[in-house]
Amino acid sequence: MEMERPSLAWSIYSTALMPPRAAITSIGRYLPPRVLDNKYFEQFVATNDEWIRTRTGITTRHHAEKGVGSSELATPAARECLERRGLGPDEIDLIIVATVTPDMMFPATACLLQANLGATRAWAFDLSAACSGFVYALTVGAQFVESGAHKRVLVVGVDVMSSILDFQDRTTCILFGDGAGAVLLEPAEDGTGLLAFTHEVDGTGGAYLHMPAGGSLRPPSHETVDQKLHFIRQEGQAVFKYAVRKMAEASVLAVEKAGLQNKDIDLFIPHQANIRIIDAAQTRLGLPDSKVIKNIAKYGNTTAATIPLGIYTALEEKRLKKGDNLLMTAVGAGFTVGSAVLRWSTLTL
Ligand code: UT7
Repeated sequence: MEMERPSLAWSIYSTALMPPRAAITSIGRYLPPRVLDNKYFEQFVATNDEWIRTRTGITTRHHAEKGVGSSELATPAARECLERRGLGPDEIDLIIVATVTPDMMFPATACLLQANLGATRAWAFDLSAACSGFVYALTVGAQFVESGAHKRVLVVGVDVMSSILDFQDRTTCILFGDGAGAVLLEPAEDGTGLLAFTHEVDGTGGAYLHMPAGGSLRPPSHETVDQKLHFIRQEGQAVFKYAVRKMAEASVLAVEKAGLQNKDIDLFIPHQANIRIIDAAQTRLGLPDSKVIKNIAKYGNTTAATIPLGIYTALEEKRLKKGDNLLMTAVGAGFTVGSAVLRWSTLTL
């Protein structure tokens, strides 16, 4: 027996009931012009290009000049994002900045960015989730778009990791780069946009990757400076093991939540912390090279900026087209874990 077809009126009614999804409709990025190769670090620590390339996958990274804050990287990235969409700064409703290297303790870097842009209608706040910061901020911003509260949310991932590096610690100083990526979220009614996400925290992992002083617990003092407590501290192997396990676990969960299977993923943009972590996640997900973005060789680990810089790389290399299923996953200090699946919009470069 032939099924009764839904009436046109019902189709229109049920479509109207579907909340809009939050889609990425524009993008911008900024990388400070100073590029450092691996050899540069040999003047400070016992290291070499071969070790860095084979153990991390990094060849170069960008470092800002001393005294350049995160807001100064975020501003040109955000301007490019708005200009690409032909929007004025006063057309933005909300700005979320993901960073662990804010210009200062307060006000929030998002407020400084709001002022730099002249985004007079926007409210703004920072979000601190280290390397998972951009994925967290993207999904937080999406809630305001999907609920109808806001039409245009600017989400920025930015870090000036060079400002908290100990150039006498070879296990960390070679890993990180500086950069910023900004995306615009707008409601989409065409099936594109954020499909699903899964986030997780294991706060017991805090001691493995942190900056011990500078906050209320250990305010800055001569002692904290002498003890180098204002630099990043990492127990690399513990973080490595956790990241390898969680990158794959979270990705699988997010893909399932989106009602998809691994084979349905057209592009995977993993957090760029170590090429061996990326390769392990790729293998566990069963994805070919053609479906994975790897730009760690050029940029190193830019913390909150890796995923938007990865999206930018994907667009530069023409590896994203409308309707593609994009998976983005990050693991970072906290420990924080964030994974999101997004159906790509029409955005190209
Ligand atoms: O984005 C936030 C999340 N962060 C991460 O996901 C980072 C996760 N961890 C890692 O990527 C890796 O653990 C590292 C790249 C940090 C370290 O690589 P590893 O293969 O785990 O090295 P290891 O810590 O086991 O150290 C092996 C050796 C040690 O020497 P000894 O004790 O065996 O003599 C290190 O001191 O390699 C030495 N080493 C270096 N040698 C030359 C560590 N860093 C360097 C270096 N150059 N830069």
